[in-house]
Amino acid sequence: MLSLRPVAATLLALAVAVSVASAEKAAPVPLAELRAAVTKALPLLERSSAFALQERACFTCHHGAHPSLVLNDAWARGFGINTNNFEDQLARAYLGLIEDRPRFKDGWSIAGTADGPGTALWMLEVAGWKPDATTAAAAEFFLDQNKNLDHWVPPMKRPPTVGSEFTTTYLVLRGLRSQSWPELAMRARTRTAAAGQWLLAAVARNTEDSVHRLRALHLLDLDEAALKKEAAELLAVQAADGGWPQKPDTASDAYATGTTLAALHDTGALTVKDAAFQRGLRYLLQSQAADGSWHVRKRTHDVQPFFDSSFPHGVDQFISISATSWASYALLRAVPRTEKKTYLAAHPQAVARVLASARPNAEQHFTEGQFTFFREKIEPVLSAQCYECHSATAKKLKAGLHLDTRGGILTGGDSGPALRPSDPDRSLLFRSLTSDRLELMPPKHKLPAAVIADFRKWIEMGAPDPRTEPAAKPTTYK
Ligand code: HEC
Ligand code: HEC
Repeated sequence: MLSLRPVAATLLALAVAVSVASAEKAAPVPLAELRAAVTKALPLLERSSAFALQERACFTCHHGAHPSLVLNDAWARGFGINTNNFEDQLARAYLGLIEDRPRFKDGWSIAGTADGPGTALWMLEVAGWKPDATTAAAAEFFLDQNKNLDHWVPPMKRPPTVGSEFTTTYLVLRGLRSQSWPELAMRARTRTAAAGQWLLAAVARNTEDSVHRLRALHLLDLDEAALKKEAAELLAVQAADGGWPQKPDTASDAYATGTTLAALHDTGALTVKDAAFQRGLRYLLQSQAADGSWHVRKRTHDVQPFFDSSFPHGVDQFISISATSWASYALLRAVPRTEKKTYLAAHPQAVARVLASARPNAEQHFTEGQFTFFREKIEPVLSAQCYECHSATAKKLKAGLHLDTRGGILTGGDSGPALRPSDPDRSLLFRSLTSDRLELMPPKHKLPAAVIADFRKWIEMGAPDPRTEPAAKPTTYK
């Protein structure tokens, strides 16, 4: 029987075959060359990811998630990695979700919307993190986002990493899939079905779009022909140098090439033996800088105050560390795994370590007496003088600042972390009490000198704070 579908599928299969066959046949890239390239990139990724945690204690896509996807994979292939740093990165991603929970209720996350938590969930999932109430809270947040749409949209345009609706939608769908709550799965079904229809109909405008449409189609296992078509379209834009451009009018770069090879491989559209894949690997090997990095030029305007994370390429280092991660990730597809388990399954004690360091209050560092000081001297003041405007129960949250959890205080509001433990004079929270180049808090009256002295003492002791839940429970998962 003839119908349109099989004919179209045959034509598309043919298109893939032609584009693969037209590539020159050459011996595969030797394993030793792949290993050498990754071995050169790893120390840069490790140094910079650790540095960024010190410098800006927040979860980031560029210095946290992307390098960690590589560290995870490199570990599984027998490369030596700094496991302390890797676990710190996992802890930071997890802590980011804990800190975001009170914000989720207000419809946002520290990085805007779903992209940050979605990227964190991806990184945790591949390391073997089991779904729990914290990851479920992120997934629940996704379901509350963009409710009037049939897909999910990014918070802003910071191409290529943030700004594609396909990327945000993929991150959300992947995050939803990775959860195990039956109630959540039921609620996710309608949105997922709508997103599937959107994915089939929407137009991909650049490589970032195509890569994530391909990943999403594969994840949902919707339509084999659509998947093949997307793969064929990606293969068709492979440049003569073996790399992929981000947009039709740009030259090949390591970010576009790394993400494309990764997606073609992870969705089963190409195997590492395919000629197109081998040409892509050769492009990456020849475009790696002598220092082990890949340089990609920044296309987006600054949103965050710049800091030097010790990664090469100056102002381009944020996109370049992501590009170096994706290039390394792609090279690693062609290096056989030596470890079958996930990192966390192979290191059961690591889960406890990550949880302990992700807990906003590391109890082990504080004495009962210090917690009592907080309970008696600090919490009542925060509750009576600040919660009205800075808590989950506030009618209208001011300056995006939550003072009802330690995580909220550490993450801070519009101006960044409100507290530097042990350093009152550099802590916004303390300075606001004394009106030191800040609006006086609480706005209308200065607190008594003795109370301000208590705050100084409390911050100097490292800000012990046993509160784990916001003033009101933000989620139904417990
Ligand atoms: C959702 C992913 C994501 C998260 C989470 C994230 N960033 Fe970024 N960040 C980006 C992207 C995308 C860029 C732009 C990179 C480029 O193309 O140059 C960027 C760039 C930067 C830059 C360079 C200046 C600029 O604004 O372009 C700094 C500094 C920075 N981020 C700091 C942070 C800090 C601090 C945090 C934690 C609050 C953070 N980032 C969390 C995605 C993220
Ligand atoms: C009546 C509402 C109200 C109360 C009560 C209040 N604040 Fe504020 N707070 C604000 C507003 C409004 C801002 C934004 C001020 C600005 O940006 O000009 C703010 C900003 C801040 C900031 C700066 C946050 C940032 O990231 O920009 C800190 C720190 C702060 N408040 C601490 C406190 C503390 C500590 C208390 C209790 C002792 C408190 N506030 C009580 C309304 C309040």
